[in-house]
Amino acid sequence: MSKTTDTTIRETLPSEGEAVVEKVRERYAGIAETSSSCCGNSCSSTATEPGEAAGRIGYSTDQLESVPAEANLGLGCGAPIDLLALEPGETVLDLGSGPGLDAFLAAQRVGDEGRVIGVDMTPEMIGRARQGARDAGFSQVEFRQGRLEDLPVEDGSIDAVTSNCVINLVPDKARVFAETARVLKPGGRLVISDIVLDGPLPAAVGNDLLAYVGCVAGAQQRDDYFAAVSAAGLTEIEMLMDSDAVKLLGGEIPGDLLDMLERAGVSADELRGKVRSVTYRAVKPAAA
Ligand SMILES: C[S@@+](CC[C@H](N)C(=O)[O-])C[C@H]1O[C@@H](n2cnc3c(N)ncnc32)[C@H](O)[C@@H]1O
Repeated sequence: MSKTTDTTIRETLPSEGEAVVEKVRERYAGIAETSSSCCGNSCSSTATEPGEAAGRIGYSTDQLESVPAEANLGLGCGAPIDLLALEPGETVLDLGSGPGLDAFLAAQRVGDEGRVIGVDMTPEMIGRARQGARDAGFSQVEFRQGRLEDLPVEDGSIDAVTSNCVINLVPDKARVFAETARVLKPGGRLVISDIVLDGPLPAAVGNDLLAYVGCVAGAQQRDDYFAAVSAAGLTEIEMLMDSDAVKLLGGEIPGDLLDMLERAGVSADELRGKVRSVTYRAVKPAAA
């Protein structure tokens, strides 16, 4: 950790994966406890309100008004649910469900006969999501505290998996994809929004904790990321959306990340075009 001004500390990334996970948990616990993500150090929070941030990444006003207000903290980097083609009665799993926005939208699609499970490691996020489910009467939605690398979900029990801006935060991404393949039914599908990189980051950014929890430094190079998806046995990978993450946020670098870049002496232009917000589909092959 190095002190750069009297008031601003830049923290470097811990070297151990589990220590990184603990930092991520601490940061998202803090975000869950705020009433709004405005200006926080999260994936898509900028100086704008969560509603505006969510509108930019693909949610409609009707969708945002149909879920509990506390479910949208502006933490996503895409809008995967519309692309998941959910049917009434299906069972959906949301990886890193946070305050529950996508889980609640999925619940509307699968109806009372369906089921939605959100998994998140941060107790404060789980508490916030459960409160939203109670307030809005989403009885078919359940939030389970747990890790994406060791999902508290039965083998072959899920029709459709989604996730929004989470896997970039997990040091062991291969394990998350293996777990996803384990819990999907044969023939099951996923639509995931996430951040990948097209090119190396400046070292000062790649080693910065704030850039990590802000969904930049933990992102993997595109080819490595999708090689890990394939290695888990997931097939028919199809890119549905692929945008410059900075442009997607209206040209704004999220929250304190901009200050971090300034402190590190890195121009924001060095990130433009390299940090990509992607939404992709893949399937678990049906049993032979
Ligand atoms: C950027 S937020 C996204 C939340 C939600 N998907 C949304 O769009 O509002 C990331 C979430 O992933 C959770 N998370 C990060 N790493 C995780 C892990 N290894 N296992 C379980 N949850 C994790 C965090 O607690 C946080 O709630």
